[in-house]
Amino acid sequence: MSDKLDFPATGRNAEPILNVLRQHLPGGDVLEVASGSGQHVVHFASHLPDNQFWPSDPDPAHVQSIAAWIAETKLGNIHPPVLLDTTDPNWMAGKPLSGLPTQLAAILCANMIHIAPIEAAIGLFAGAAKRLPENGLLLLYGPFLQTGQKDAPSNLDFDQDLKRRNPAWGVRPLPLVKNMASNAGFEFDQLIKMPANNFCVLLRRN
Ligand SMILES: C[S@@+](CC[C@H](N)C(=O)[O-])C[C@H]1O[C@@H](n2cnc3c(N)ncnc32)[C@H](O)[C@@H]1O
Repeated sequence: MSDKLDFPATGRNAEPILNVLRQHLPGGDVLEVASGSGQHVVHFASHLPDNQFWPSDPDPAHVQSIAAWIAETKLGNIHPPVLLDTTDPNWMAGKPLSGLPTQLAAILCANMIHIAPIEAAIGLFAGAAKRLPENGLLLLYGPFLQTGQKDAPSNLDFDQDLKRRNPAWGVRPLPLVKNMASNAGFEFDQLIKMPANNFCVLLRRN
């Protein structure tokens, strides 16, 4: 039986995210944090030949799935997935990690910081800041709460549902995300509205 996992939402939002990447991704090495099934990275790599993609995830079953998707495509610009948890102190400290380049052009992270404890986001920003050059791109994708503005009912419901499943999870308010990013050395660049009340948040290493 194939190790390939199929996340239906990932299949749906791969193309809209790719359109953002086409406009904003610099050439070079791109780390994807929390690659999940691997569907995103395979889609991106097949359309962005100027980039080398480095997928990762802390879940061994997901790493197997990513490897299975990669094996099927036979693409030359995706590297084998690595086990990476953003709360790993070595990642956070910017220490070299086996299987990953030390300097990256950009880091992508889709649908992770709401479905993990807040420490995962803090660790993401800390480690990303150590591996990106000045102005390097950290791109987040997912649902975010826009404090002070009208939030989509679906995002508010999703927030409650996440918190019922795990009190440490929850759709993160944008001001909190910007604050955490700023504390780690990132400047907010722009917010891009995406289908189904999701967003891309573009952050730049300052
Ligand atoms: C909802 S899935 C999203 C997968 C994929 N990015 C997507 O959009 O389809 C969340 C992923 O976050 C990963 N994850 C959870 N905690 C993490 C952490 N501390 N560091 C890195 N990844 C984490 C999980 O293993 C899972 O693959």
